[in-house]
Amino acid sequence: MSKPRVFVTRTMPGPALQMLEAELQVDMWEEDRPIPREEFLRRVPGVDGILTHVTDRVDGELLDVAGQARVVSNYAVGYDNIDVPAASARGVLVTNTPGVLTDATADMAFALLMAAARMLTRAERALRDGEWRQWQPDWLLGAPVWGATLGVIGLGRIGQAMARRGRGFDMEVLYYSRRRRPELEAQLGLQYRPLEDLLAASDFVSLHVPLSEQTHHLIGERELGLMKKSAILINTARGPVVDEKALVAALRTGQIAAAGLDVFEREPISLDNPLLELDNVVLIPHLGSATRPSRYEMGTTAARNLLAAVSGRKPPNLVNPEIWDQRRR
Ligand code: NAP
Ligand code: GLV
Repeated sequence: MSKPRVFVTRTMPGPALQMLEAELQVDMWEEDRPIPREEFLRRVPGVDGILTHVTDRVDGELLDVAGQARVVSNYAVGYDNIDVPAASARGVLVTNTPGVLTDATADMAFALLMAAARMLTRAERALRDGEWRQWQPDWLLGAPVWGATLGVIGLGRIGQAMARRGRGFDMEVLYYSRRRRPELEAQLGLQYRPLEDLLAASDFVSLHVPLSEQTHHLIGERELGLMKKSAILINTARGPVVDEKALVAALRTGQIAAAGLDVFEREPISLDNPLLELDNVVLIPHLGSATRPSRYEMGTTAARNLLAAVSGRKPPNLVNPEIWDQRRR
């Protein structure tokens, strides 16, 4: 019997590809850039499964062209690049890579929080530019982190990991999420607040919700207007959770003090993005999960999901489990 055929949209660090090649016929986009849409459409007809990255849009058109694909395995925990209802309508399983990048991403969110609070990137630029001529009592004075109030929006895996880091820095940690989690409130010492109250009370606001219709521009002009003028916004979730235009305006006018951003409305950001003109931002290129172990495990998790689905077994990380249940009926 011939091996199932899969298409992989990009290489991954670690053993994931070898795992796939041992059991499947693997076709892969070899170039060191995201696959162009036309090429993606050209490569998927006749495959049994597809392994995608956050840069690849998977919609009804692509799934129709792919025809017989039974699974889309995303190399990420977020899956807003995939039209899940379109996949479900076609009986296609969708999987993701939860858990293996939780601490790496929370570490990065906390690193951005520290860097924005203490102006690390701005200070390094000043030093490199020869602006450090003397020790100055009033130069680059940052915001205190120890004992400050942290507002976590989205108390899922990464939100909880961020809350733990906040507690480790003696912070008062507030959270807003889709549902209240009394057991975590007790266990981690957290306090639930409605969104508006959390925004008004927090020194740092850190976003950890998935991108969806409900969370698109969750933080806009009105929400930024509720925040303290000394507040700092951290976004490692997805760019469009924040209205970037409104954020730029709030940072320019001093409506909020600073921001630390790993994600943007358009990625990669263009070099004329107004954020690049601001001094009170720390900007990094979507690196939340970028540690070697996390990226390896994202690969092995995505590979295991794909292997299971194309061989008729239930993948461990199903985003649309109802499709599996329907198949069994
Ligand atoms: P998760 O465990 O599913 O947590 C998401 C949390 O957000 C859940 O508690 C969820 O509530 C809550 N939520 C969902 N919709 C909401 C809404 N409309 N309003 C309020 N809360 C809402 O996911 P995770 O593993 O923590 O990952 C979170 C997101 O981080 C991913 O979706 C991805 O976009 C992003 N991420 C980015 C990077 C990076 O490299 N920057 C890396 C990893 C992840 P329920 O508990 O009710 O479901
Ligand atoms: C990365 O952004 C992810 O969602 O895993």
